[in-house]
This record gives sequence, C-alpha cells and structure tokens, in this order.
Amino acid sequence: MEIIIMSTPADVGRVAAAKIASVVAKNPSAVIGLATGSSPLVIYTELKRRVDAGEISFAQARGFALDEYVGIPLEHPESYANVIARDVVVPLGFDPARVRVPNGRADDLESAAKEYDAAIHSAGGIDVQILGIGTNGHIGFNEPTSSFASRTRIKTLAPRTREDNARYFDSLELVPMHCMTQGLGTILDAQQVVLVAHGTAKAKAVAAAIEGPVSSFVPGSALQLHEHAMVVVDEDAAAELQLADYYRYTYANKPTWQFDL
Ligand code: F6R
Repeated sequence: MEIIIMSTPADVGRVAAAKIASVVAKNPSAVIGLATGSSPLVIYTELKRRVDAGEISFAQARGFALDEYVGIPLEHPESYANVIARDVVVPLGFDPARVRVPNGRADDLESAAKEYDAAIHSAGGIDVQILGIGTNGHIGFNEPTSSFASRTRIKTLAPRTREDNARYFDSLELVPMHCMTQGLGTILDAQQVVLVAHGTAKAKAVAAAIEGPVSSFVPGSALQLHEHAMVVVDEDAAAELQLADYYRYTYANKPTWQFDL
C-alpha cells in the first residue's frame, strides 16, 4: 500500500487525480469506479480543471458508481444516480450512457445487484476505483463485519453512517435505511484503488484501515490485501498514523519512474 500525506485537501485531490488521469491517458476507454460523498470532490474538481485545460477527456471512459440508496426515488437530489450525474458525469464530460449506478429502485433488488457485478465484469473490470472511507471504517457502503468476499448486494446502513449522512437530508429519519453497494470482493477486483480522506473525523478510521489488523470489523483494512492500493490523506486525517514520518520519507524519495505507473 502506498500512503501519501499531503498538507491540504486540495493537494490530496491533485495527487489522487494525477493517478486517475494517468490511467485515462494510457487508456481513454478505461473503466473508473466512482465514489460519491464529500471526500472525492477534491479529485473531481482537479479532474475538471484538467478536462477544461484540454489535458484529458472522459468522453470514451466508462464509470461504475460504488453504491446507491434503496428507498428514495431517482429524482431525489441525494439519489446517487443524481449525485454522480451532478458531480461527475456533467462536469467531467462522461457519456451518460457509459456510466452506471446500482439500481436501488429495482423490483428484484437481488437480481439487480448480481447483474451490476456481472456488468462490471463484462466491461473488463474496473481499472481504477476511487474510494472514500466512513468514520466507522466502511468503504462503499460495506459496513463493519462485511465479508471480504462480498459482491454487490443490499446492505443495511449502520446507525453511524445514517447520522454522518444526515447532513444531506432534512432529518435523520429521512436518511434511507438500506443501500445497494459493490462488495469488498468487487472492490478488491479493481486493478488499482485510490482512497482519499481529509479532516480529523477520518483520522481513526484511516489509522485502523492502514495500520490496524486486517479485519472485517474495519472494512477499509481489506485494502491491505490489494496489490495496488494508494491512500492519499491530508495532515488532519493522518493525525493518528504511527508511521506518518515513514510515509512522508517514502513519498519524498519516490523514484521518478514510479509516478507514471
Ligand atoms: C460513497 C461511499 C462511502 C463514502 C464514505 C465517506 O460512494 O461509498 O464509502 O466514501 O461514507 O463519505 P464522505 O466522503 O462524505 O465523508
């Protein structure tokens, strides 16, 4: 795992976006795993800057969102279908027909979840997966004790996650109880993963995921099993890392050729 500590959230976005941009530069029809929430906004902002500058294009790229709420209509401003359209598809110029979000409104949710996993597989798998991390250590909506072998499926959101996400809704009661999320197994199948976190609220989860034992109790710790996982955090989110100095030293001495991998 490569751990990079940057001064500010904007720097986090710049470093993570460089990784996504290098994947798309090598393969314009790359398959990108898309996260929602506040953490990846810094990545999308920097990618938009690059798109506007004519440096990269997502016109041929494909996208698969990590997750979707179950129980809110498509037109709800906080449905992840809407969030992905607003934060990613429109600003970055993806072809909407090439971006999918799990269907949390399907009559048969189980079949829809299986079909989503199959669609990722048919697209050739995810080349680079963008991730945030929940304050309880979840990635996607894989809440604590999710199986490392799990595939896209329905989950019940943890009370902590509903509280954390209540800021997007008028009240806690209106936060959906269920979701459809890529599984930890689905996420681990991606060729590369890039997790970003900023702010002190994430410090404990980041430390547990990176330096704690590999355990389904901290779903983010599954990334310790991934061959190409990059974690980019700001100083606040790095506050609980025991080996922070080592990660700074490693990044400061990163061989130039490795930046293009
Ligand atoms: C989003 C997702 C979640 C979030 C996590 C952090 O698609 O799957 O894992 O990344 O809840 O959310 P923020 O970034 O809003 O703190």
